[in-house]
Amino acid sequence: MPFDPEAVRAFERAGFERAAAAYETAFAPATRQFIARLLDGAAVGPGTDVLDLCCGPGFAAAEASARGASVSGLDFSEAMLREARARFPAIAFTHGDAEAPPFEDARFDAVVSNFGIHHVPRPALALAGVHRILRSGGKFAFSIWAGHDENIAWKLVFDAVRRFGNVNAAAAPAPGGGFATGSDCLMALHDAGFMDTGAHLVRGTWRHKDAMSLLDSLRAGTARMAAMLAAQTEAAIPAIAQGLEAAAGPWRDGGGLALPIACVIATGTRP
Ligand SMILES: C[S@@+](CC[C@H](N)C(=O)[O-])C[C@H]1O[C@@H](n2cnc3c(N)ncnc32)[C@H](O)[C@@H]1O
Repeated sequence: MPFDPEAVRAFERAGFERAAAAYETAFAPATRQFIARLLDGAAVGPGTDVLDLCCGPGFAAAEASARGASVSGLDFSEAMLREARARFPAIAFTHGDAEAPPFEDARFDAVVSNFGIHHVPRPALALAGVHRILRSGGKFAFSIWAGHDENIAWKLVFDAVRRFGNVNAAAAPAPGGGFATGSDCLMALHDAGFMDTGAHLVRGTWRHKDAMSLLDSLRAGTARMAAMLAAQTEAAIPAIAQGLEAAAGPWRDGGGLALPIACVIATGTRP
């Protein structure tokens, strides 16, 4: 399928509209672990004027606000924005697309995006937009999921679907992102004109009762992974869960599964 940015945008928006209500319990336990490091990467502290780009239900925005920053959030999903505004009424959440952030030039001291940029059809446009709305010396930090070698939860799911289902079953448009490694991030930041760039691996642990609970979380709280799982046949899902459960043995402890996850946090400064 050739790359079609509008198809990707529509697919992602529909996915996150559907996921918004369940996101806090389904997927945020994975993404929230990295917020403190993300905010550190953009030097967010008291008085920082910061934008949380692709804010979802606003958890990074809320942590920035708790640090004493002056915070705005942006997302293209109305359902996500409803969740964010209900939870954090003191924060200004704006509807808009990360490819064309609706803010004036040089408005912010910092921009952060926690697992947002790789969902945008053309991340290069988002990075150019961030560059434009940062003041000179302003800092940008964003996170993406690390590769499957580091991200055991993801690896287990894809391996099980490959063995017992069909990884290509979803009729999802080909993503535009192509952000999979730290060097992808560094290259994109450099191309967008950022300086003092960095990309660091940060590890976490995503706990689940069992394999089916991991699959349920991904089905409820994501867009692309949910589409892949939704496209499996009814017979394949129990086989995928069983295969995953068996393969997850090394990460089982008294409380269930303690699955290693990891992200890359990439940072840059507007000259
Ligand atoms: C995986 S969620 C991350 C949410 C939140 N940042 C967090 O820390 O959990 C991705 C978010 O990006 C938003 N998003 C994806 N593409 C977007 C775009 N082109 N413009 C604005 N928001 C977008 C989705 O609506 C969703 O809320």
